[in-house]
Amino acid sequence: MFRINDNFLKLNQSYLFSQVAKKINAYKSNNPGVEIIRMGIGDVTRPLAPSVIDALHKAVDEQASFDTFCGYGPEQGYRFLTEAIAINDYQSRGIDISPEEIFISDGAKSDTGNIGDILSLSNKVALTDPVYPVYRDTNIMSGRASDNNIELLPCTADNNFVPALPESNPDMIYLCYPNNPTGTTLTRSQLKEWVEYAQSHGALILFDSAYEAFITNDDVPHSIYEIEGAKEVAIEFRSFSKTAGFTGLRCAYTVVPKELKGESANGSLISLNELWNRRQSTKFNGASYLSQRAAEAIYSEEGKKQVSETINYYLRNASILRDGLKKAGLTVYGGINAPYIWVKTPDGIDSWTFFDILLTRCNIACTPGVGFGSAGEGYVRLTAFGSYEDCQLAVERLSLL
Ligand code: MLT
Repeated sequence: MFRINDNFLKLNQSYLFSQVAKKINAYKSNNPGVEIIRMGIGDVTRPLAPSVIDALHKAVDEQASFDTFCGYGPEQGYRFLTEAIAINDYQSRGIDISPEEIFISDGAKSDTGNIGDILSLSNKVALTDPVYPVYRDTNIMSGRASDNNIELLPCTADNNFVPALPESNPDMIYLCYPNNPTGTTLTRSQLKEWVEYAQSHGALILFDSAYEAFITNDDVPHSIYEIEGAKEVAIEFRSFSKTAGFTGLRCAYTVVPKELKGESANGSLISLNELWNRRQSTKFNGASYLSQRAAEAIYSEEGKKQVSETINYYLRNASILRDGLKKAGLTVYGGINAPYIWVKTPDGIDSWTFFDILLTRCNIACTPGVGFGSAGEGYVRLTAFGSYEDCQLAVERLSLL
């Protein structure tokens, strides 16, 4: 009989957001008239920017003519997009990233999940706790977690959500800042410590900056490459999902600098840029032309303005939620440089019980903190991606707690 990948049996029974959705749906079907305010999964609700819509229409029309029709594109992404990213997201900030170091994909979830393909299964891994479950689950799936190879770095109110440097000498370190789920940040000098750690320990940092567009504080870096030497030790993941509302459209990118090298079994130094290119050209046929033209449009003058208006809309929601939660007597973190608010449950109530209380008393759906890891126990996460009106209503409903 054929064998399955037994590593899958080591995972939680279902993916966190599927579990949350199941609970909400069950509650809804038992209480049909109830309007639930959805602040669970971090999914955007504002329509795409007009510039993006225009670009999509144009790209669709191009598919109707022999002259402009597109079949397979480059697996790495179209040059028009990698160039726009290099110029606008990096070079304009004084960071030397070239289009050849940028790989377009259909999402940061896929890229952060797939990157392990080019890294040894014997590598030790460090994850912050709580953590975006994709990093943990994909390492478990691949078997990298088999010999307790994962070190968890607790991030709680006690350490101001700043992880201590690892003790187990990990080879791969996942950092997500602004952080999902806590909504907290690392300052430039705090991130510098991680880059220096990676340099001195021969580690690779997998830096997820999917929420970079929400940064409002000057001392919070937008890219790990703002830190000197980071190009030799870090891969950066970015996404148009939260930046420009592409959760349905799908487009993201990963930066693998040319300087970044890892060791092979025989001790030679190998370019990760070449390995990722090899991996992508074998397993991926590129993000669609339509989504890449749509992504390009956010870098036009109009596009930039429109996208930043939407970000500000969500940030205003976050601020309303923070204030409302505080008024309701709760302790909150995040929500200033991120669309997530991390809420301490009252009276030591566990995450799932408080999830139920919020759902049944206030008809607000959140995500239980413990779903992101054991250090998330005693917290829940709310997202600011809903409408302004729903955020105000949610604040009113908090008085029912
Ligand atoms: C979240 O809610 O954490 C995100 O929506 C998940 C994701 O981006 O995949």
